[in-house]
Amino acid sequence: MGRDELIRDVCALLAGDPASEGGANVLLAPRGLGKTVVLNEIEDAARAERGWLVLSVSGTDGDPIAETHKEVIRAHESLVQAHGESAKRLVSGMSLGVGGLSAGVSFDEESDPKRTRYGDDLRRDLSELASAAAQIDVRVLLTMDEMHAIPLAKARQLGSYIQHIAKRERRALVFVGAALPYITETLLADRKSTFLQRLAVHRVDLLSEPEARRGLQEPIEMHGGIISEEALDIATSAVAGHPYMLQLVGDKMWRSAGGTGNPIAVNHAKGAVAEARESLEGHLFAPTWESLSDTDKRFLAALAVLAEADDSPRVAAICEEAGIGKASASAYRRRLLLSGMVSPSGRGRLKLAHPSIGPWLRQAIAAGSVRVPEAPLPGI
Ligand SMILES: Nc1ncnc2c1ncn2[C@@H]1O[C@H](COP(=O)(O)OP(=O)(O)O)[C@@H](O)[C@H]1O
Ligand SMILES: [Mg+2]
Repeated sequence: MGRDELIRDVCALLAGDPASEGGANVLLAPRGLGKTVVLNEIEDAARAERGWLVLSVSGTDGDPIAETHKEVIRAHESLVQAHGESAKRLVSGMSLGVGGLSAGVSFDEESDPKRTRYGDDLRRDLSELASAAAQIDVRVLLTMDEMHAIPLAKARQLGSYIQHIAKRERRALVFVGAALPYITETLLADRKSTFLQRLAVHRVDLLSEPEARRGLQEPIEMHGGIISEEALDIATSAVAGHPYMLQLVGDKMWRSAGGTGNPIAVNHAKGAVAEARESLEGHLFAPTWESLSDTDKRFLAALAVLAEADDSPRVAAICEEAGIGKASASAYRRRLLLSGMVSPSGRGRLKLAHPSIGPWLRQAIAAGSVRVPEAPLPGI
């Protein structure tokens, strides 16, 4: 599914019944695939086209409950600003809640969560906000980027608040999260939280070839540049549908050609691709590699070795190369798929998720900058 279609679909769900399953969504994809960009476009559409209140939180910004509460208070203030005294009366219940934290003190002076105990009355204040907004026909959209980073207990708590407000109180509160795919095994597999279990999952795919081509060409032409067909072919094929790579290649080609008015030729494209690969390695592959377990690393290294001769080796062959028993093959296969470093490739086969991973890993192992953990001795 293309990006525009995905954004349209999610926006349509958010505009439906907030108490239905489409009222709570999560975008899943490995790093660099454009989740944050898609999430921001959904937020912009909600704000600009529908005039909704958008509360936006990142799972890496500290306590998600306190951060959400701060957003609720910020939204309350913007509601009052936009709709004046009438909105103030509508949310007077909530102002009391906020005042309870520290009466008469402005938000900025009291932004330390430890001192103000943000989070204590989140459910009530969020509910008040949603009901005040509903009276002027406005929905509240809560977004949570980097949702994989939030602890299970916090996700459960936040989920139960949202569910209570949207389903029990039937207020217009809708949710979109974005996370790495492994949360299907962690947060989304939680048996205690029906909110988490029922999140509608949307996968953000690689860009199709025409999308990537357009994504490279349009910004160049928009800025008064031109690119030769051959250079565009080289760049598109190196990007391999990866938005992060697209951004890097596009930017580096543009700079190396010297900006506006200078045609981008094959040599610029080739140079940009080489530079972009290095960046991709440092920013994307290396951190992901470091986050893998020892056995996952052995499995991935074995795949990279075999991939030199055969793009899509059999899982059984990878296990043999890595010295991993076949009994655990499916567990490793699944974990590597979740890391975003490998993709399925037909029955019983796997391939590396990006054409640069194999050359990078083989080279890094040979140079000693990446270490493959040794297999434990049998019987230990
Ligand atoms: N559709 C797209 N076209 C071009 N570049 C994109 C697109 N989507 C994302 N990008 C770029 O790719 C990079 C990664 O996107 P981001 O949304 O941060 O990914 P994620 O949140 O999944 O890690 C960013 O530099 C972003 O600007
Ligand atoms: Mg992101």
